[in-house]
Amino acid sequence: MNDASPANGLARTGVRGHGLPGRFLSVEGIDGAGKSTHLDWLAEHCRQSGREVIVTREPGGTPLGERLRELLLHETMGVQTELLLVFAARCEHVNELIRPALTRGAMVICDRFTDSTHAYQGGGRGLKAGWIDQLEAVVLGGLRPDRTYLFDLPADIAARRRAAAREADRFEQEDLDFFERVRAAYSRRVSQDPERFLRLDGRETVDTLRARIADDLATQGLLGHNAGH
Ligand code: TYD
Repeated sequence: MNDASPANGLARTGVRGHGLPGRFLSVEGIDGAGKSTHLDWLAEHCRQSGREVIVTREPGGTPLGERLRELLLHETMGVQTELLLVFAARCEHVNELIRPALTRGAMVICDRFTDSTHAYQGGGRGLKAGWIDQLEAVVLGGLRPDRTYLFDLPADIAARRRAAAREADRFEQEDLDFFERVRAAYSRRVSQDPERFLRLDGRETVDTLRARIADDLATQGLLGHNAGH
């Protein structure tokens, strides 16, 4: 594989979220920050590299995961139950879809991943980071995205965008304080792992944001498709 080549940005920065030939991208942000606007474009852009591209989401991504998503978004439950269901869905997702795709050299673009759990269940709900780390170690065994695009937007602006867009689910009904905590937790994640994240200002235009992402994918060597097979 050419991952050791100096032309490969991931090798250069030493950032690899797994030892597999595929590429793993995640997209994050508080509800209303704008990530969904870019997902289809991102997938199409990556497909131009010739690599197989899979777009998936969390919670969800498998038949069982999508059923768990329905519960998570609409049923009343305790916060620990919420955390465990998020990881139950993720366990299925990683074992059934993400790891096999990365193993065959595909690019996986995931709409939310474990950073969402740190942000929502950790920051928003106030659950201990240590619990999340433990579940992460058990379920993921070190698997993490190669690159994470974080759409950042002040919580009040995001709330106005959400109100205009759709009916609120269980998370979206939370108050501004909750989303301030979620946003702050995302910021802490960026500080803990600055090489993995690209933080994007959700107030920038769609075109500017896409240009920044396209640039970043190229710089990071994420579009190369000599993935060892
Ligand atoms: P979201 O991805 O924003 O989907 P949509 O654009 O259809 O609303 O919604 C998923 C919700 O799930 C979001 O509010 C955040 C929440 N969530 C968690 O609380 N923890 C997690 O680990 C994940 C993956 C999502």
